[in-house]
Amino acid sequence: MKLLLPFITLLLFLTPPLRANDAQSQKDNLIVQALLRLEKYNLHAKEKAHVKAAVLRYLKANPATDEFFTLIEKFKITEANLQLIGIALDNPRKTEGVRAAKILLASKNTTHINNILAGKKAPPAISLLTALGNTADPAVVPIALPIVTSKRSLPTRTAAVNALGKSAKGQRALLKLTTTKKLPTDLKFTTANILLASRDKKIATEAAKHLKLPATAGSKPLPPIATLAKLTGNPAKGKAVYTRACAICHLPSVLKIDFGPNLIEIGDKLPKSALYTAILDPNAGINFGFEGFILKTKSGAELAGYIQSKTDTTITLKIAGGIAQKFKRADIAKITPMKQSLMPENLQASMNKQELVDLVQYLTTLKKKK
Ligand code: HEC
Repeated sequence: MKLLLPFITLLLFLTPPLRANDAQSQKDNLIVQALLRLEKYNLHAKEKAHVKAAVLRYLKANPATDEFFTLIEKFKITEANLQLIGIALDNPRKTEGVRAAKILLASKNTTHINNILAGKKAPPAISLLTALGNTADPAVVPIALPIVTSKRSLPTRTAAVNALGKSAKGQRALLKLTTTKKLPTDLKFTTANILLASRDKKIATEAAKHLKLPATAGSKPLPPIATLAKLTGNPAKGKAVYTRACAICHLPSVLKIDFGPNLIEIGDKLPKSALYTAILDPNAGINFGFEGFILKTKSGAELAGYIQSKTDTTITLKIAGGIAQKFKRADIAKITPMKQSLMPENLQASMNKQELVDLVQYLTTLKKKK
């Protein structure tokens, strides 16, 4: 151990700095390997600035490797926080993204996390909440809880609820919001799915007094999605349900109506649980390009649809039934964004539980032909 310190210093002087990047990265690598073997080393001391510089170069060149994470954790390198955020945002459901989120939480300096979460853009906030949630760390609770009752968009608030749902402490916080009637109505579905499926039976029982999952035909409430997703249905029967309830808006369709997103390869895109969410809670995540608008014309017509195209002088609105209508901007009195999805809620009310399970089974068979 004693030999390693002079060894690091020696290395720094031996290798000529003018050699190509290769030589430098080799040198950085050796320094890092030596450091990783040291039990104690004050990397942040002033006189070690050159060693620290080598480490920071190494981190830049070797992101998300095991050494990368170990170095940051061992020497508490906050300079890498921005890099960690990037890794968490890119892989919120993967080992490296979750590890990055965990280190960020432990670093106590939550500035970067707060910046992303306070930012106007929903997608980064959603990814970060997902990564943080997947750590199941109770430190996520004070970060995600205020978002649930904030004025942020529904997908962002839904991600906050899902992040809380990953830890027992978060579930208890959600339960408290529920019992004190502070849970926003548009989050009841997501919350019910988490709390009613809680491994903690006390939480599940208490939640059941306040929250219900959507009912199917015959007003029987559904089990949580986690339970539904484990069931297997009959895809042929599911196809019949689809033709009855979905083909008026989606392809594939004998009616050839193209209004909602094309579902021809939906089985490749969404796992079963996400298919259930799409059907039972269409407002939770609205597909890009399908955001609804209410358009009022000066002559008094009012239509709901999404914007298919626009020019300086016209707006083309696609309305249910797949019909595109072109309006002169001069004829439009008002066009306002809708908060709700153009896909109706409560479609499951026209089917029983088995029919819903069959329908989802059918959707999983819609895959790219190989
Ligand atoms: C009145 C039209 C309408 C009906 C009926 C309808 N949908 Fe939709 N659906 C939409 C629209 C519009 C969107 C896109 C907006 C959104 O994401 O909420 C959508 C989105 C979806 C998505 C998400 C697609 C993706 O790529 O993420 C799925 C899955 C879906 N619908 C399945 C169904 C199923 C299954 C049924 C039948 C039970 C159905 N829809 C009935 C209009 C409809």
